[in-house]
Order: sequence, then C-alpha cells, then structure tokens
Amino acid sequence: MLMALSSFSSLFKLSAFTLCLSILVESSSGQLSTSFYSTTCPNFRSVITRAVNAAVSKEARMGASLLRLHFHDCFVNGCDASVLLDDTANFIGEKTAGPNNNSLRGFEVIDTIKTQLERMCPGVVSCSDILSAVARDSVVTLGGPSWNVLFGRRDSTKANLNAANSNLPSPDSSLSALISTFSNKGFTVNEMVALSGAHTIGQVRCSVFRKRLYNDNNINSSFATSLRAHCPSSGGDDNLSPLDASPASFDNRYFNNLINQRGLLHSDQELFNGGSTDAQVRIYASNRATFSRDFANAMVKMGKISPLIGSNGQVRTNCRRTN
Ligand code: HEM
Ligand SMILES: *[C@@H]1O[C@H](CO)[C@@H](O)[C@H](O)[C@H]1NC(C)=O
Ligand SMILES: *[C@@H]1O[C@H](CO)[C@@H](O)[C@H](O)[C@H]1NC(C)=O
Repeated sequence: MLMALSSFSSLFKLSAFTLCLSILVESSSGQLSTSFYSTTCPNFRSVITRAVNAAVSKEARMGASLLRLHFHDCFVNGCDASVLLDDTANFIGEKTAGPNNNSLRGFEVIDTIKTQLERMCPGVVSCSDILSAVARDSVVTLGGPSWNVLFGRRDSTKANLNAANSNLPSPDSSLSALISTFSNKGFTVNEMVALSGAHTIGQVRCSVFRKRLYNDNNINSSFATSLRAHCPSSGGDDNLSPLDASPASFDNRYFNNLINQRGLLHSDQELFNGGSTDAQVRIYASNRATFSRDFANAMVKMGKISPLIGSNGQVRTNCRRTN
C-alpha cells in the first residue's frame, strides 16, 4: 500500500513536472501575438511589405533568399535573429557555417527595413520579428499563401556557429536524416514535406548539387544532362540553377517535379524515392490548396521555435550587432 502510494506520488510529481514544463513552453510562445506592436508601432507592417515588394520586383530571387533567412534563423537556437549577426574580431557569428557561407543573402534588405523602422519607432521592432514578417511577405509577393504572423520575439546577444553547422539539413541528406532534423525541432513528417515545398522558389549553386548530376541514380537522365551544361564536373561552382521549373512563382510545381525525378537536390528527391513520404508528395502535387494550407500552418509553427521573450534578449538597433 505504502509502495503503491509512493509510486503514485512520484507519478503525480512527474506529471505535475511535465505539466509545468509544457505550460512553460506554451507560455513562451504563447506570448507572441499578431497585435504585439499595435500601440507601439502600428504601421510597421506596411514598411516591411513595401520594402519586400521593392526588393522582389528588382530581383525575384530575393523573395526566396529572404524566406530562407527566417528558416536558417529559427532552426538555430530559435527565431532570435542570431543569423544576422556579423563576425567581428571578438564575436563569432553563424554566417560562416557550412549551410550559410557564400549562400545566405538578403541581409541588405533587412538592414534597409531596420533603418526605416528605427526612424519610425526607435528601439521597438525586433530583427527576429522583421525576419518573420519578411518571410510571409516574400511568399505572398511570389504568389504563395498568406498567414497571420505572430510578433513579440526579441533578439539574441549570442550566436551559435556549431548549432548552425549541425541543426540545418544538408542537401545530401537521406529521407531519415531529413525526418530527424525536422523532428528535432518539433515537426512531423508531413510538416517537413510541406516546409520543403519552399524549394518551389529560388536558385542553387552548382557546387551544392554537382554530385547528383554525375553520381546519383534517382534523377531523370535528360534533366541531369541539361543541368550538366551549366554545372560541369569541375569549375562553375557558383553557377545557379532553379530549384524548380518556376523558381519565381510560389506554386506546387516543386512536387510535380519530384514525381518526375526532377528534384534539384539529392535531399529534395529523397521525398519521392519509394519511401514513406511519396504519398504526401502526390497529394501536394495534385492539390495546391492543401499544400498552401499546410505550408502556411508549418511556417507559423516554425516562427514559434524558442522565441526570446521579455527580458530574455533585446531589440537590436542594428540587426548586424548586439546593442
Ligand atoms: C528539407 C531540408 C532542406 C535542405 C536540405 C535545404 C538545403 C538548401 C540548399 C543547399 C540550398 C541552396 C544553397 C546554395 O545554393 O547556396 C537551399 C536553398 C533554398 N532553401 Fe532550402 N533546404 C531545406 C529546407 C528549406 C526550408 C524548410 C526552407 C524554408 C521554409 C527553405 C528555403 C530555401 C529557399 C527559398 C532557397 C533558395 C534561396 C535563394 O535562391 O537564395 N529550404 N536550401
Ligand atoms: C567561407 O567563404 C570564404 C569565401 O569564399 C572562404 O574564404 C572561407 O574559407 C569560407 N569559410 C568557411 C568556414 O568555410
Ligand atoms: C525523363 O523526362 C523526359 C521528359 O523530358 C521523358 O521523356 C523521359 O521518359 C524521362 N526519362 C525517364 C527515364 O523517366
């Protein structure tokens, strides 16, 4: 009886602990809200939307680059704008990490937005919230779905180069590696497939997918041949190829390309290679609305990864360095 009672009590403690933990996790992202700046900077969204539209009409690819910045921010110690911090003599940022070095772009667009917002509402809108609004506006302006962006994140004073090297997925990933990289951040397999649909826009450097053209079998051979013209077996490392057949349009073409063995990255094609995600790829390929809905929901969820709230963090006045 005593034993039963004590194990009951430890079970109770355990579940009380789990409850507290889940309240803690909930409440940190629960403090984000769509109306966070409604009194402190009511017009901040129009500044962001205007700047994103201008940047994307100058160069369509910029929409893709800006969306990717939010992803590379959120997967490394949460959405805290750590990805924007420059290296200095005594600060190591994330910009030289393998997935980021010579690859991330769009920092100047964020700088422009930050400068305008600092003039309008000094010290109010965080760089991490800017990234999150910019990601949504980029998708919308390229014809993709919209979603309600949550705000109230603060900016880190730290960066994590090791996490940038280990938490972001590699283009050589197997399906099971992709599943675990996303599951480590709380995403289901279907959410991982939906988020991968971001590769419906943008461009990739030859050095990233070369192996796939010369040494991979799950690729349509005429597709591989045509890509080799711009991506020789040596040289041309920075030559760009589009991630799908309509790289400036946020549609569901990416998934149709996968069904036709025309994924550009090895990791893309892993989503349709006889494995457990084939069915989801077919659903998204045949139903753009379903993809749009799932992508939007997964983006909201991505924006909630470990936000810094309240006194944890700061609102940087320059996104490239801590205050
Ligand atoms: C599923 C695992 C993923 C892998 C392995 C991956 C990998 C990559 C790589 C290697 C590049 C090209 C880098 C270069 O050429 O320098 C790239 C580009 C891109 N990625 Fe991903 N990515 C993944 C998921 C995502 C997600 C979840 C998003 C956003 C929600 C995203 C958005 C983008 C975009 C938009 C581009 C094009 C960027 C541009 O044109 O500047 N990716 N990705
Ligand atoms: C990053 O890119 C620069 C310029 O191409 C290169 O010199 C440097 O070695 C790279 N850094 C790392 C860590 O790969
Ligand atoms: C590759 O794609 C072409 C269409 O461009 C198609 O005619 C061909 O059958 C495909 N090859 C294979 C092996 O599926």
